[in-house]
Amino acid sequence: MSGWGIQTVGGVLGGAGNGDEPVTVLVAGSRETASGLHSALLGDVRFRVLAVATTPMDVKAKLAMEPDALLLDGTVFEGPEELTQTIGGYRGDAFVLLPAGVPPSAADAVRAIPAVRDVLVGEVNFVELAGRIYETARARKQAAASGAGRAVFAGARPAGTTAAAGWRAIAVWSPQGGVGKSTIATSLALESASRRLPTILIGLGAPDPIPLSMGLRSEPNITTWLEDPTPEKLRLCIQKFDTLDVLGGFPDPVALAGYIPRAQEGAASLPSLANAAAYAGYAVVIFDVSSQELAAPALVASNALVLVARPTLNGLLQTVEAVRLVNDTMAGQHSIAREAVHLVINRYRDSTFQPTEFVKSGGDVRGDFPSLAASVPDDPEIEAAHNRQRPGYLHSEHLRKAMAALGNVLLSAPVEARSVATVGERKVKRFGPLRIRM
Ligand SMILES: Nc1ncnc2c1ncn2[C@@H]1O[C@H](COP(=O)(O)OP(=O)(O)OP(=O)(O)O)[C@@H](O)[C@H]1O
Ligand SMILES: [Mg+2]
Repeated sequence: MSGWGIQTVGGVLGGAGNGDEPVTVLVAGSRETASGLHSALLGDVRFRVLAVATTPMDVKAKLAMEPDALLLDGTVFEGPEELTQTIGGYRGDAFVLLPAGVPPSAADAVRAIPAVRDVLVGEVNFVELAGRIYETARARKQAAASGAGRAVFAGARPAGTTAAAGWRAIAVWSPQGGVGKSTIATSLALESASRRLPTILIGLGAPDPIPLSMGLRSEPNITTWLEDPTPEKLRLCIQKFDTLDVLGGFPDPVALAGYIPRAQEGAASLPSLANAAAYAGYAVVIFDVSSQELAAPALVASNALVLVARPTLNGLLQTVEAVRLVNDTMAGQHSIAREAVHLVINRYRDSTFQPTEFVKSGGDVRGDFPSLAASVPDDPEIEAAHNRQRPGYLHSEHLRKAMAALGNVLLSAPVEARSVATVGERKVKRFGPLRIRM
């Protein structure tokens, strides 16, 4: 493994203290509302529902579990006074839903409770609300963890974006050079953005070819973010390619070498960069892991992995070794489940293995060899597009088809069921007097 120049991360998860754990939530409301909200949060990997409470007494008792956030249907309380008495001492982030028609003075009285971050009166958009709860709780936890008096970064996402339920940080990697990591990472990012998911593509090459291949400038880039590694600064470092946000990688190998000691832990690490992207409102973060030196911290920062493979004998060997690294050598150091490792075969043609042969051979070697998420044939359009500073995704039908398949695996149900991609069709559910757009 040392042949790849990879250092595995020692100790526990590099993200410790950076909020890799989900936001814990206490859901309170009438039986019907509480179970509706509960099931909506269940499929969302950003949250862990600690308990459901259905009466004021129940809420008070269960607040002893110290949830990060409290999502509350205000109608279980008789009025603002009872609500104040119940959650007056709570130190997390409370979000209160009230039915349309409550007097503004009552809503104001609820707003005045210290823990209350927001009071939502009338119809509620659940996807937006979940994004707000997540960002607020994560920002407060991070501020508490860092001990810094930095302004809490809440509710300030880029205009027009909404966090999708089910946050994804996806590492696109292969231990082999030139197999199409940057091509696949860029294409997947464009596919994600085309599904209206707020997406950031982060280049990690040195020098990084992504800006050039998309007709963007080489600056600002990741080294600009490293000067002040905060979510606010991240916003200033991105460049736009249509609706996709791009953070370019390192200008040269010297800049990369200087970064390596900081990549695994601390405010400037890759796990911290993934967190900053979550705070900044991105639902999908895609790392193009084109520098082997950053493979280990990029895996620690991610919760899904796309392994890109050439369908050759060497490609097979490299892919088997990659699976070994992720599932054996680095086991316990990252949060990429085995089912979250996906294989993309790139540049197959008549003289290479065919995708099914490749997967079969891999499966003969390792039982945990990933299943095939997509395959891309060798297509001269892709290289030709790159040479004209255009993403291959926009010029190769084969690549787009493969990315649609990969996107279905990585970006859709149960996530997409509530993602912004379905905004138009989302149903309004009634819970007693509350109306929630799920
Ligand atoms: N399916 C394909 N058909 C034809 N050309 C391709 C295909 N995929 C990638 N290429 C071309 O192969 C070259 C290498 O691709 P890319 O830069 O994406 O690989 P990489 O793994 O990121 O390389 P590196 O290890 O240098 O970072 C590029 O010129 C790209 O245009
Ligand atoms: Mg590359």
